[in-house]
Amino acid sequence: MTKVLAEQVAVVTGGGRGIGAAIARRLAENGATVIVAGRTGSALKMTVDAIQGASGKAEAVICDVAHRGSVEKLANHVMGRHKKIDILVNNAGVGSFTSPLHQLPPEEWERVLNINLKGIYHTIRSFAPAMIAARSGHIINISSLAGKNALANGAVYAASKWGLNGLTYSVAEELRGFGIRVAAVCPGSVDTELSPHVGKDKSRMLQPEDVAHAVLALVTQAPQSFISEVLLRPTQKP
Ligand SMILES: NC(=O)c1ccc[n+]([C@@H]2O[C@H](COP(=O)([O-])OP(=O)(O)OC[C@H]3O[C@@H](n4cnc5c(N)ncnc54)[C@H](OP(=O)(O)O)[C@@H]3O)[C@@H](O)[C@H]2O)c1
Repeated sequence: MTKVLAEQVAVVTGGGRGIGAAIARRLAENGATVIVAGRTGSALKMTVDAIQGASGKAEAVICDVAHRGSVEKLANHVMGRHKKIDILVNNAGVGSFTSPLHQLPPEEWERVLNINLKGIYHTIRSFAPAMIAARSGHIINISSLAGKNALANGAVYAASKWGLNGLTYSVAEELRGFGIRVAAVCPGSVDTELSPHVGKDKSRMLQPEDVAHAVLALVTQAPQSFISEVLLRPTQKP
């Protein structure tokens, strides 16, 4: 039986572990060829091996989304080898949850914003032209409920995700006329290494697979419909 994402090419940033790895596996299970991008080769290899071990198609590309040249190299690789991109999942991100903003070192402000926000500008700048030429595509930005709420001791993280939501809504309007759907997925706390999640019951927390499920739903919508935002919560408060 033909899989729903057969012949589709997907790029997942930060696909070596956590939520990105689950998204990469889920897209590959459904037939997509997945390019898994991130900074750590050994982690990317684990995701690629898992996908290939399940008879899926995947390859690893080292990429630091904070650096424009690195993202341009990733896009050149994808377009050179696969000639197209159907799905871009901007998942790579870092947390910062330990200090009030007035005590945050300037380098930490730069680090978080460069990865969580500027990194998405870099990937959209590099991949959107090919989607525009094809007049189709999905761009899924993994944001957070921290982009909807206040987060004491995590102001820079919240700012990056509030900024990402604004970027997402705006780019969605820029690209929808080309048949490109740009959406934000905003999960609550997910059981990964991003943060220690102190005081939370892990058994009740969202799992990376829950986010992957939402991403699959977005990229398998009927062509005339456009879910622009998903707010994802666990059923039981952790
Ligand atoms: N966990 C949560 O509670 C939660 C909740 C809501 C939203 N989110 C969001 O979900 C996304 C994934 O987070 P996660 O929980 O899966 O975290 P994680 O387990 O720490 O994974 C983060 C991933 O991002 C990659 N990454 C970090 N900096 C990068 C860079 N400069 N270039 C390329 N890749 C980079 C990491 O790989 P390398 O370090 O090897 O590059 C890793 O694969 C993030 O955007 C996060 O903000 C997480």
